[in-house]
Amino acid sequence: MEIVRVDTAGSGYDVLIGSGLIADAMVQARDFIESYHAGGHSARRKVPVVADRNAYRHHGDRLAHSLASENYDIDWYLVEPGEAAKSWQGLEALVDWLLARGITRKDRVFALGGGVVGDLTGFACAILKRGCGFVQLPTTLLAQVDSSVGGKTAINTKAGKNLVGAFHQPSLVLADTTCLTTLPAREMRAGYAEVLKYGVLGDRDFFAWLEEHGSQVISGEEPWLTQAVARSVAAKAAIVAQDERETTGRRALLNLGHTFGHALEAATGFGERLLHGEAVGLGMVLAARFSVQRGDLPPSAASRIERAVEQAGLPVRLNNINLAASGRELTELMRHDKKMEGGTLPFVLLRDIGAAYLARDVPLDDVASFLDAELRDPPF
Ligand code: GLY
Repeated sequence: MEIVRVDTAGSGYDVLIGSGLIADAMVQARDFIESYHAGGHSARRKVPVVADRNAYRHHGDRLAHSLASENYDIDWYLVEPGEAAKSWQGLEALVDWLLARGITRKDRVFALGGGVVGDLTGFACAILKRGCGFVQLPTTLLAQVDSSVGGKTAINTKAGKNLVGAFHQPSLVLADTTCLTTLPAREMRAGYAEVLKYGVLGDRDFFAWLEEHGSQVISGEEPWLTQAVARSVAAKAAIVAQDERETTGRRALLNLGHTFGHALEAATGFGERLLHGEAVGLGMVLAARFSVQRGDLPPSAASRIERAVEQAGLPVRLNNINLAASGRELTELMRHDKKMEGGTLPFVLLRDIGAAYLARDVPLDDVASFLDAELRDPPF
């Protein structure tokens, strides 16, 4: 097991990474399990766990079995898999459910599932009685290396994704790599794009390590999987410690590939056509190619990034994804990005592998022309 400490303005917390952590949750999370009595004459103590139905089906028994070893029952709150759960209605229903159980600020709610469950539960806990604790049990690669760590919580509204939320750090994260063995291969590859991102943005040795061992990571082989998750989490923890609330530009580097990717997700309906991680992988390739066009990045570095994304089985060309949008339409979609400030959109670009920077001077017209050229026929 690997342990990564995340230092935050509060006291910070640990991220535990390894196989079998859910089966061992009673031991690993002992200090974080608060409970309430079920009411009536039951002497059993209850722990509130929010889970999506897939995570519940695959991992619910192991968690329940572990907590039962010390006479805790789980009070399950199940949500349907998919982004729809991250809505005002979904939030209201969960908060009402928690209030009905008399959850106090001292309690900790467990979140078992992917990013949707983590974001929804984290936000509910941020506002419940002005803040109660929560423990993340991320069950997807994407959630283990990104969304469960760093305290961003949110729901979606009509105006867009993740536009309403709060910074609210978990008390503990248990990233059980065993969970990843039940993930569909496509989801594993999509999550891997976020792993690659950490190498590309700030750690060229990690990138080179992934060039060598990426296929073992994607096929879930240990010890490479745990090492890849731990290095990713450590990279994120270092950035979060420097810029917890994304005010200095440091944390914004984690958005590498996301501005291009967000427009592609919006153009394809935020769904199965293009998964978030697939959009990030392609967005990262586009950011690299755009950096080459600006004269910032050597073409050979962009080719290496593209090769690594392609070897992971992810799309690397706009005309791989059946897009019916022009460059201009894509930049219009970017304008709705929540990072838009004062009429400009900061882009994370590259000077080298492992050397990302935030460019605040990028004319969206240039981006539109670049994307049109990419859509026609990539120029190099
Ligand atoms: N997912 C980007 C961040 O946590 O800042």
